[in-house]
Amino acid sequence: MLDNPLVVREVLVFQSFGRLREIAKILHGALEILRYHAAVSSLLLRTRLPVRGLVEANVLIIPMLPHPPLPARFATTETKAAFVNQLFDAGAKHYDSVVDWGFLRSGAGYRRWALQRHGLRPGHQLLDVACGTGLVATAAEKILGSAETITCLDPSEGMLAVAKSKLAARFVVGRAEQLPFPDNHFDFLTMGYALRHVTTLDEAFQQYYRVLKPGGKLLILEATKPSGRVGAFLFKTYFGKIYPFLTQVFTRSRDAREMMAYFWETMDACVRPASVLEALTAAGFTEVNRQSLLGLFSEYTAVKA
Ligand SMILES: C[S@@+](CC[C@H](N)C(=O)[O-])C[C@H]1O[C@@H](n2cnc3c(N)ncnc32)[C@H](O)[C@@H]1O
Repeated sequence: MLDNPLVVREVLVFQSFGRLREIAKILHGALEILRYHAAVSSLLLRTRLPVRGLVEANVLIIPMLPHPPLPARFATTETKAAFVNQLFDAGAKHYDSVVDWGFLRSGAGYRRWALQRHGLRPGHQLLDVACGTGLVATAAEKILGSAETITCLDPSEGMLAVAKSKLAARFVVGRAEQLPFPDNHFDFLTMGYALRHVTTLDEAFQQYYRVLKPGGKLLILEATKPSGRVGAFLFKTYFGKIYPFLTQVFTRSRDAREMMAYFWETMDACVRPASVLEALTAAGFTEVNRQSLLGLFSEYTAVKA
């Protein structure tokens, strides 16, 4: 019974009958569950219900999705990976130029600045998950002094081909949810603007935790839709309309336009930052934190104890 989130919600509401504040919290949590299939354990934690039978439901964790399925793009979570792979393979050759002007040439400097501030140092073994065309890795190379200790992982052969033309790192075809590396292997793990593309946050974060050495650091860079109404409107106008349109005009590529349209759609539907922090904590990380720049750029950090 408990593997159905709807049923779990009803049981919880029933059990908390008469406790108004708890009910309000539960309804809020239930909406999150319905939208993102958030972990049952998180909901129980938030409501702090002393219900012994339900606490046992902790073992039945419903994985947290980065965003709900987008029916116009892919029908089920199972078909998402193939869709995303095809999207980036097709758009790979335009990615660097589109991101360059789209973010007013701030991308390379910003990635390097973020890596520096969050403690990447020469000598670190770095894993860049979802390396794409290598924008995070090339920024890291400048800090590390060479690409010798950088491993770049991505499922898209098209994106990797562009990255390989730029730096002499180690390249691996693979997915965040199933990292082909030993336990306790890396000092630093980065993921730039790809959180929305994994199948479930829990799977990816558990893998990050596994491959990091004790004391190792995780840095996830992500663009986040502002929570205020004006910010959200401007964000939607630029990323939802202007950016895909200009991408089509400048590249004359429908594939590139689709890639940037999807960028907006996934940001719009993305789970809120609090849930990302929750999933990081659930994976075992400590010092879990989010820094926000301009209300737009999220820097999630966490440490493997
Ligand atoms: C928007 S690009 C980001 C590239 C680069 N990190 C950057 O900072 O610009 C997203 C990348 O995530 C990759 N990706 C998609 N699904 C993934 C997964 N499940 N695991 C790892 N990478 C994935 C895509 O192939 C693509 O190269």
